[in-house]
Amino acid sequence: MSTSQLTLELERLAKFSDTPAPSVTRVVYSPTDMQAREYFKGLCLAAGLEIREDAAGNTFARWPGTEPDLPAVATGSHIDAIPHAGAYDGTVGVFGGLEAIRLLQRQGMRCKRAIELILFTSEEPTRFGIGCLGSRLLAGVLDASAGAKLRGKDGLTLDEARQAAGFTGTLESVRLNPGVYSAFVELHIEQGPLLEQEDLPLGVVTAIAAPASLRVQVDGEGGHAGAFLMPHRHDAFLAAAELALAVESSVKATGVIDTVGTTGVCDVFPGAVNSVPSRTRLEIDIRDIDGARRDQVIENVRAASVEIAARRGVRFTIETVNADAPATCAPEIVEALSNACEQAALPYRKMVSRAYHDSLFMAQLAPVAMLFIRCKGGYSHRPDEYSSPVDIAAGSKVLAATLADLALR
Ligand code: GLV
Ligand code: MN
Ligand code: MN
Repeated sequence: MSTSQLTLELERLAKFSDTPAPSVTRVVYSPTDMQAREYFKGLCLAAGLEIREDAAGNTFARWPGTEPDLPAVATGSHIDAIPHAGAYDGTVGVFGGLEAIRLLQRQGMRCKRAIELILFTSEEPTRFGIGCLGSRLLAGVLDASAGAKLRGKDGLTLDEARQAAGFTGTLESVRLNPGVYSAFVELHIEQGPLLEQEDLPLGVVTAIAAPASLRVQVDGEGGHAGAFLMPHRHDAFLAAAELALAVESSVKATGVIDTVGTTGVCDVFPGAVNSVPSRTRLEIDIRDIDGARRDQVIENVRAASVEIAARRGVRFTIETVNADAPATCAPEIVEALSNACEQAALPYRKMVSRAYHDSLFMAQLAPVAMLFIRCKGGYSHRPDEYSSPVDIAAGSKVLAATLADLALR
């Protein structure tokens, strides 16, 4: 079998990376991200799509329909990649969405509704600490004032960084009105092991779990690692380490497998081997398919911080960066996806998404659902992330049939 255009495009895209292959690192608005966007837009233009970019860098590639006044059907995902990630997270939904449109074009299909392919800005929280930046702004879940408030490690605010990347205009203008799309369908790799375990190429998502993240600063007392004796210390890192363990124990205490918690960032100041840490910053991710249970875990972590602070003589400042509600997928799109799987004779199961996606916020603008593609070992957010060309092609094919179904309604 010859290598498909989509496979070649995904391979080429993976080369736009700030770390060596097989890892992929593509942080929003970096030169690498901008080069990858140019590559994507070139392919969209070659497919005859009309391109628009908003002030956040969300990119919309539209295949017009025969009835321009009808709301479009939308699809899409992201191409930014966390540090040392793989080549498939998000990218399969963007380039697979383009392939789906090209498939329909090759079939000579003319749809009533336009089909709009969206590349969302910064689904990953790497640079500004909050995920789904582009889709949050589109849905109005994140206020435009975030442009001046959110700041990356390089010191640039969101506004400064996007403007330097050429995305000028106000963030207020990014927001879309509910009703602008009749449906949104996102193709994505599963990022979990169930499909592979059950020998199924595809999954139809019925709900998306509720993510939350916390930013913690611990202020203690620094000093000389030799001369500052142990009984007198207020070590900020050790207090932070206890809080990270409290995250784990609070999560496990729910007794439910659906609750997960991760302390993925720990910055120690001043960061010298012979200096007692005076300050430590943590970033904590807590999720559940049950929003109320997730919130209770956050409360328990806050309570643990009060106890640790008193015992260790440090100060905790805890900011909830986001605590989003879970989303339910629209039954009519779940059915459209299921029908398309059946018509293509591709076995699938219905499932919950434990990862978050731009669909979580697009659900505030339109009925949404997602199609998952099996991935090796369930690995994601690591360089050995992998979905086979055959499964990706199957996903694009089912996406194409579903988009056509929804765009003919
Ligand atoms: C998305 O990248 C997530 O962390 O779920
Ligand atoms: Mn991701
Ligand atoms: Mn993703």
